[in-house]
Amino acid sequence: MDTYHDLISQTFDFPTDEFRVEQNELRFHDIDLMALVEKHGTPLRLAYLPKISSQIQRAKEWFRTGIEQTGYQGKYSYAYCTKASHFSFVVEEALKNGVHIETSSWFDTNIIRAMHAKGKVTKDTFIICNGFKTEEYKYEITRLINDGFVNCMPILDSPNEVDYYHDNVREKCNIGMRLASDEEPRFQFYTSRLGIRYTDALPLYQQKIKDDPRFELTMLHYFINTGIKDTSYYWSELSRFVHKYCELRKVCPTLTTIDIGGGLPIQTSIQKEYDYPYMIAEVLRTIKRICEEEGVPEPDIFTEFGIFTVGESGATIYSILDEKLQNDKELWYMIDGSFITNLPDTWALNQRFIMLALNGWNKQYKKIQLGGLTCDSQDYYNAEKHIYQVFLPERKPADAKPLYVGFFHTGAYQESLSGYGGVKHCLIPAPKMVILDRAEDGTLTDRVFAEEQSGESMMRILGYQS
Ligand SMILES: Cc1ncc(COP(=O)(O)O)c(C=O)c1O
Repeated sequence: MDTYHDLISQTFDFPTDEFRVEQNELRFHDIDLMALVEKHGTPLRLAYLPKISSQIQRAKEWFRTGIEQTGYQGKYSYAYCTKASHFSFVVEEALKNGVHIETSSWFDTNIIRAMHAKGKVTKDTFIICNGFKTEEYKYEITRLINDGFVNCMPILDSPNEVDYYHDNVREKCNIGMRLASDEEPRFQFYTSRLGIRYTDALPLYQQKIKDDPRFELTMLHYFINTGIKDTSYYWSELSRFVHKYCELRKVCPTLTTIDIGGGLPIQTSIQKEYDYPYMIAEVLRTIKRICEEEGVPEPDIFTEFGIFTVGESGATIYSILDEKLQNDKELWYMIDGSFITNLPDTWALNQRFIMLALNGWNKQYKKIQLGGLTCDSQDYYNAEKHIYQVFLPERKPADAKPLYVGFFHTGAYQESLSGYGGVKHCLIPAPKMVILDRAEDGTLTDRVFAEEQSGESMMRILGYQS
């Protein structure tokens, strides 16, 4: 009989640094998951904090060795992009590693204030303010700058944004500019809506930044939606970006830094997928080569890794409630949760995570489909990264314990997309809701059901306030 354990060991290099099996039960970072499940029940979302710190340290080390090997002249700094997970315990863990912060909306500035009040963010921490700036966001950025957060830096997302800072900033202010990258060829749009057109960057600097003694353009930023991948698209966008940096650097001596965004990928299969040190060294080599060709100093580099920082720290565990054979071949294992509501990327983006049984490793394996509890026919998971199938141990009604299945590396974005407790992507609030009705005489009435979600309510959900 081929057991589930045989299947996994023959398919992958198993055990791994992260996963092993003891008495037919799975250990994740040596943690007895079955004991946790028995203590807390399922569905269960786990956040393993040491992984956040170790990921930050790994990336810093890859940059350190890459800089050493390539003789790169600039410095490297790590920023955490809060949108990947805004929870207080995540941000606090990341900050233990001396990271800077990237923000995406004005609600994020509440997090900066809360962390500053606790002494975890200082006025020297870089606050890289990305995203489209609403009036509230510009107001909060300006307030931080005027309050002495000397490295709070608006990253201009559109040409008019700087007008607000002209009118309201009192202190010296470093400014960044995000360049709008071209999307991957198969995307529906040619150029990203986020950032400033390449052709507008130089005029914007010359017309609105250069002559104001309060402002210094210090950072050029870009973000590639597909992430840092060894594809011709990635390398050509990086090269185009570095050439633009060189062009601007020649007329703007204060421009010392580039921010190459997020997008360092995580493992979504047990099989090792990425050669991170190679990718990072290659990024450094590319920047260095272009700067040498153009006779421009190599810039300091910032990254703002979100998924890489927090993704691998998360796990989501379900019980298998029952099985249903819906025709001769299709066997469904029903979980006590939902893919759409707990792991929305699996449904919306066809994202795969590492999926493993927690128990029953000595049992025969079966090809199954996993079904969620919602009524939506799309609420299923039936393919892994390496094959278009899913296998789990067989189960019997007489089994002493239910079968449990774990999804690993689920720590980024899933809560904000699924609206955990009421938070949303980039902390964009739930809108004010108004109910419209008609009186008997046909007159329209409007009644406020709920005001727009407040920053305080988000801060409570995220654990910053009790
Ligand atoms: C501007 C910017 N920086 C960083 C990130 C983080 O990307 P990732 O989580 O892939 O590292 C994003 C994600 O959307 C982004 O838009």
